[in-house]
Amino acid sequence: MGSYINVAVAPPAQDARRTESIKLYGTDAFEGMRNAGSLTAACLDGVADLIAPGVSLSEINSYVLDFAASHSAVPATLGYKGYKYACCTSVNHVVCHGFPNEKRLRDGDIVNVDVTLILDGWHGDSSRMYAIGKPKRAAERLIQVTHEAMMLGIKAVRPGARLGDIGHAIQSHAQSKRCSVVRDFCGHGIGQVFHDTPNILNFGNAGEGLELREGMIFTVEPMVNLGRREVKTLADDWTAVTRDRSLSAQFEHSIGVTADGFEIFTRSAKGLHAPGVTLKEASAEDGP
Ligand code: MF3
Ligand code: CO
Ligand code: CO
Repeated sequence: MGSYINVAVAPPAQDARRTESIKLYGTDAFEGMRNAGSLTAACLDGVADLIAPGVSLSEINSYVLDFAASHSAVPATLGYKGYKYACCTSVNHVVCHGFPNEKRLRDGDIVNVDVTLILDGWHGDSSRMYAIGKPKRAAERLIQVTHEAMMLGIKAVRPGARLGDIGHAIQSHAQSKRCSVVRDFCGHGIGQVFHDTPNILNFGNAGEGLELREGMIFTVEPMVNLGRREVKTLADDWTAVTRDRSLSAQFEHSIGVTADGFEIFTRSAKGLHAPGVTLKEASAEDGP
């Protein structure tokens, strides 16, 4: 149960005193992550059925709370560093960590719902975008580009690849679509700990950074903006928004490094993780 070995990793040049320790997990851990990840995915599938114009963010929170309780799971965010909710709900220009408050969703809104369920000690961490009614073309495009960026990052994962390969794949795709990548947040090691080493940056240079090894488990969770990449945190100390108030999107999967690539633990059994919108290149009248 939960057996892993620690690998010593060459410390970054600027902090030569620290030796980072990255866990390598075995089959029991992968099984635990598969179970927790599927449960989180099923919860996010349920959110898809619930979400509609007029639904409040706190109703989404209640759904996640009830879902967790009825599946012997615990939402990891509840009480985490003082955070008081079972999920994060980030609407339109909110980048991440939005409170599920009494605000009601309206036609044209886009919202990220981020859920982490702990099942038998393992953390399944995943988020998706949901469109309310008919969002603008630019919003649909942002959602599509963000999902593609996450999947390209994930597809760079295999033993021998480097963390920079993930960041580079994400950044180059988002930027090629005239979007920007948020640099203030990143993915993270996960397992029996919610936020573990290493940090999984959403930008970087191919061939640089920590070398991936079979048995590593972490999240890939890029945040992509339609406008500039700068964010600010509101006075509530949590809610991060785009400084230019442009729309922001995010997707997140928890994954493991396998002998020949990766395994996604938080895949939807119903195929609901990927956005339903078709990517069409912005036409001339859509403007830049
Ligand atoms: N689920 C987020 C992540 O992907 C973390 C949210 S922490 C919270 O890592 F406290 F804001 F909920
Ligand atoms: Co995460
Ligand atoms: Co998350």
